[in-house]
Amino acid sequence: MRTYFDHAATSPMPPDVLDAYTAELRRAANPSSLHAEGQAARMRIEQAREDIARAVGASTPAEVVLTSGGTEADNLAIKGLWRLRNADVGSAGDASSGEEPSGGEHSSPPRPRILISAIEHPAVSEAADWLTGLGAEVVRIPVDADGRLDLAAYEAALTADPDRTALVSVMAANNEIGTVQPIAEVAALARAHRVPVHTDAVQAFGQLPLDFAAVGVDAMTVTAHKIGGPVGIGALVLGRDLAPEPVLHGGGQERSVRSGTLDVAGAVAFAAAATSATADLPARAGHMAALRDRLIDGITAAVPEAELSGPPGAGRLPNNVHFVFPGCEGDTLIFGFDAAGFATSAGSACSAGVSRPSEVLLACGRDEPTARACQRFTLGPETSEADVDRLLAALPEIVVRARRAGMASGAPA
Ligand SMILES: Cc1ncc(COP(=O)(O)O)c(C=O)c1O
Repeated sequence: MRTYFDHAATSPMPPDVLDAYTAELRRAANPSSLHAEGQAARMRIEQAREDIARAVGASTPAEVVLTSGGTEADNLAIKGLWRLRNADVGSAGDASSGEEPSGGEHSSPPRPRILISAIEHPAVSEAADWLTGLGAEVVRIPVDADGRLDLAAYEAALTADPDRTALVSVMAANNEIGTVQPIAEVAALARAHRVPVHTDAVQAFGQLPLDFAAVGVDAMTVTAHKIGGPVGIGALVLGRDLAPEPVLHGGGQERSVRSGTLDVAGAVAFAAAATSATADLPARAGHMAALRDRLIDGITAAVPEAELSGPPGAGRLPNNVHFVFPGCEGDTLIFGFDAAGFATSAGSACSAGVSRPSEVLLACGRDEPTARACQRFTLGPETSEADVDRLLAALPEIVVRARRAGMASGAPA
């Protein structure tokens, strides 16, 4: 018997979403085609857009720009919004020189700065770092020991130079340790200085009540496969007054911000998953938070030296449990759990496969051995008390073996 504790990496499609997806896959039509099949596909995609808009709290379906997932939406937000504020990059002047472009045309002064938290997903942090080649200045705002953004440091960084700041990007909740960020406060402060704000809400969507209009951000990333939709579709929820420079150029679909033939089946399945994830969100989140706390209490009782990463209670995602097991290697723990029938993770799936310390834990002030000794257990709607109790029963032996392996390889305890 296998039990899946890796929903933050990807969450299985429930039967109704799978049915909606496969039914749509049987129909061939490009929603940009003018014939009846194309127009019917257009209607289905617009219905899906409307459902996704409702689920994310957008004020209009036009705010939903469909993408191939979270990575693309993050890239579009970071690169596109930065280029919007640094329009002359790549022409005669560039953001670092601050020169006017040749030809005498005036354009607004460059805003090279990007403010991001120190624990962003690589889809945000790597996109921002890539822009340094074009003159961007990336400012990383520190987090506390639980991974919560240092609001005073953020305010100081923002107010130090708001007129040279192109955008702020702070994730709604962390993918590794589940810390929920004070995103409404982040947005309010940036708005006061007329700086656009993006949030990566990939992990928060479907776990926390999320209302794009109420939170006050300008752009928000979501993806389908973390909430029981298919891999390969997501969205950048984008205020109507913003027109970031496209990352993908082509046929001008999606407000000319994201070209490419629309994925009707993906959008229909995404809409079905988003609707069911948000329809019963309080009940679902309450159920998962109770299981999360059962697992946290059980781990603490079974392995007293294990340390919870991130805050307890309401400050963390309802489906996230993340522990440091001193003296163990994260990958050794994964193999131990795997052999015992449990799918777990050492952190972010995107950097799994390469044994590295967790950048998130390092940013929280932990040392390298600690940042290598972690294990993440993420729950889903089908996780039961019996699943949690089975994992707890298997845990002590797995930890003892992982520690023995660590001692044999000379890893510090
Ligand atoms: C916080 C966060 N942002 C972005 C992504 C990337 O999303 P996608 O897998 O849809 O490209 C992930 C995936 O793990 C994530 O956890």
